Amino acid sequence: TAPSRQWLSFVQRLSLLLLVLQNSALVMVMNHSRNSPTGSQPRYLASTAVLVVEVVKLSASLLLATYDAIASHPSPSLSKITQHLYQSIFAPESWKLIVPAALYTLQNSLVYTAISNLDAVTFQVTYQLKILTTVLFSIILLGRTISIRQWLGLVLLTLGVALVQLSPTTPAITTEASWTEKITSLFTSPTQPSTVHHNALKGLAAVVGASLISGLTCVYFEKILKDSLGSNSSSIWIKNVQLSFFSIFPALFIGVIWYDGANIAQNGGFFAGYNPVVWATICLQALGGLIVAVCIAYADNVIKNFAASLSIVVSYAGTAVVFGERMTLHATMGAAVVMVATWLYKSRPSTQQLGTLLPVSN
Ligand code: C5P
Repeated sequence: TAPSRQWLSFVQRLSLLLLVLQNSALVMVMNHSRNSPTGSQPRYLASTAVLVVEVVKLSASLLLATYDAIASHPSPSLSKITQHLYQSIFAPESWKLIVPAALYTLQNSLVYTAISNLDAVTFQVTYQLKILTTVLFSIILLGRTISIRQWLGLVLLTLGVALVQLSPTTPAITTEASWTEKITSLFTSPTQPSTVHHNALKGLAAVVGASLISGLTCVYFEKILKDSLGSNSSSIWIKNVQLSFFSIFPALFIGVIWYDGANIAQNGGFFAGYNPVVWATICLQALGGLIVAVCIAYADNVIKNFAASLSIVVSYAGTAVVFGERMTLHATMGAAVVMVATWLYKSRPSTQQLGTLLPVSN
């Protein structure tokens, strides 16, 4: 039976809230994992992390898909459930996931390159480009229309995020540490000098590339999900099993073996440089993938990106609380602008707000 409107509304809000929290934590932990000194240890290789994230997501999605199958079967047995899962995962149309899987793998690798070469502030501001690329691809591929009010919301959102991020405590303007750096410093030992070399142009190209791929891929994935859920053929977890399954091949053969194979052989193996911060980054990224999947199904891609932007405001406000600082006028105005932008974008007729991908009952 179709889920009720109230249930969809609850899941939509919960997934957006979780995305806000996950995003805030990920950028800081990931930045720390890439840029903190490693002493005599080699730094972990991004290609191995991209692969491990997919393996974790595959296992989690398979568990959730199994739970779904057991819950929907009138008399579940091991053989029936295994057969059901096998047939759903290797259904004839599963090949459609090959393209988004390859693109997401490339995007995830580019994010590592970007974070390794840019400071967290520049990365976060520039990655907001994905809001615009997502809207553009939604119009082109999904035939979605955006009202003037929503366009205004989008422009204000970009402006608000830039205001929060570029408030006058960032290193570009003064030599004082930015709020993002201060949070990162919570995890870092101040006595060790940084040994990481940055290439800003490379980082910028990577983040612009990742934003373009993000917009294209999430809209394409939304379209596949919409087509298949419309005919009720498989759950979002089956789609995620397929997505991770197909991501493992490029991540393993292109990233790990072809690109980093020699490096892995010379520098202590696949898990060289792994520490608790690296594992935290991997878990947060895998969790993020699962939350993104729920957001795409229960809300939509553009709203998902709004939640990600809100996380910038949340981490800013969090820093102000943690460090007992007064928020600057710039950043406070930026935060207010982001709130108004979110309200402008979301306040459209309620029939369009919920369950864009899932059938609903009242
Ligand atoms: O927000 P954005 O679209 O950029 O997020 C993409 C991230 O979510 C990628 O890391 C991708 O691997 C992950 N994802 C996922 N499962 C989905 C959709 C996205 O793991 N169904």
